[in-house]
Amino acid sequence: MKPKLVVTVLTVFLLIYSATVTADYVRPPPRKTLHFPWSSRPSPSPQQVHISLAGDKHIRVSWITDDKSSPSIVEYGTSPGNYSETSDGESTTYSYLLYTSGKIHHTVIGPLEPSTIYFYRCGGQGPEFQLKTPPLQLPVTFAVAGDLGQTGWTKSTLSHIDKCKYDLHLLPGDLSYADYIQHRWDTFGELVQPLASARPWMVTEGNHEKESIPLFKDGFESYNSRWKMPFQESGSSSNLYYSFEVAGAHIIMLGSYAEYYEYSDQYNWLKADLAKVDRKKTRWLIVLFHVPWYNSNEAHQFEGDAMMASMEPLLYAARVDIVLAGHVHAYERTERVNNGKSDPCGAVHVTIGDGGNKEGLARKYKDPPPEWSAFREASFGHGELKIVNSSHAYWSWHRNDDDEPVKSDETWITSLISSGCIANELGS
Ligand SMILES: *[C@@H]1O[C@H](CO)[C@@H](O)[C@H](O)[C@H]1NC(C)=O
Ligand SMILES: *[C@@H]1O[C@H](CO)[C@@H](O)[C@H](O)[C@H]1NC(C)=O
Repeated sequence: MKPKLVVTVLTVFLLIYSATVTADYVRPPPRKTLHFPWSSRPSPSPQQVHISLAGDKHIRVSWITDDKSSPSIVEYGTSPGNYSETSDGESTTYSYLLYTSGKIHHTVIGPLEPSTIYFYRCGGQGPEFQLKTPPLQLPVTFAVAGDLGQTGWTKSTLSHIDKCKYDLHLLPGDLSYADYIQHRWDTFGELVQPLASARPWMVTEGNHEKESIPLFKDGFESYNSRWKMPFQESGSSSNLYYSFEVAGAHIIMLGSYAEYYEYSDQYNWLKADLAKVDRKKTRWLIVLFHVPWYNSNEAHQFEGDAMMASMEPLLYAARVDIVLAGHVHAYERTERVNNGKSDPCGAVHVTIGDGGNKEGLARKYKDPPPEWSAFREASFGHGELKIVNSSHAYWSWHRNDDDEPVKSDETWITSLISSGCIANELGS
């Protein structure tokens, strides 16, 4: 061949080749569960430190020690090494087959100032941690990722969340994927500690938290012992559902695995909790639970239907703005929906069960998509929800593309109250 022709053929080949490569981006496969060296630390040292909101101006610090005599005290203050305050808390342990947990400490500190950095130490010794309290008023930013697990992808997702400026982490279920192997709860606690000790992590349960054994274990024992959430503070009788306020927004964490039928405890609690929200003052109402109600992925079809039939009328009447769910290992965002179809006064539903767990992605979608589906993609990643003011929130979803966070979906959401959707009185 003549040199000129060779060059032309090569160029054409390269053009076609690069076109096919960009068009068919091959999504990387699931990554293996990480392995951690375990039980190498001195026993009184605090491990698995994480924090959560615990009522107005208060934060619960949770950690574990191998040493059963270690006290449940937290010393804290606003300058490093200078602890002007001390709180004492409670502790628990649990056994699961051959495993016995360390001493699990839960200590509430406060009252704390908003938007303030506090330095703290657990059990009277060990390293100093720092946390930042959420703001008193809007704006507020939430990081959102469900179905985390503890794989290479989890690590990637956590490092991307760490790079964003956020006030609070919201997790719609499936934390450790310990799946009965109890020490994996401990390794998960260590994996998330750098983030979860610095910003409140507000979680609700998924199916992987259950770990029940018929006639022997009821379920949620490890989860409830380790991830105590402010259910008592919000008038709930179960750690599986609760609510909290942050920066003037009301967030409700429901339980897909607690009874949800009409007149069940959870249903009655939800109704009472919604009735307490003054929508004149509280412009944003957000709900999280594990199993999505609006899902056009082939995975987990219909699983959320019974809960939706029971509870969606309550959420709709109260004008819930945004619903965040997990369970399906992919991302999907809907238009405003209610009762199975688009509705200008319904909630925007987001499925974000793609934190990076070991089970991999749910790639198959229903075709054609339902009219309410606005965006869907099977990739690992995380979401960021910034509530800017009483009328506007900015939502973005960041896909883990070859370990880089790439913003793939973004939208402005206007609050229902500011859009003229007036909340209905809930009958008592
Ligand atoms: C320690 O903190 C207290 C109260 O926040 C403050 O009054 C005091 O000056 C601080 N001491 C030092 C040495 O920084
Ligand atoms: C709320 O934020 C949006 C987006 O930045 C802006 O367009 C709007 O004017 C703000 N509204 C108020 C009342 O400040």
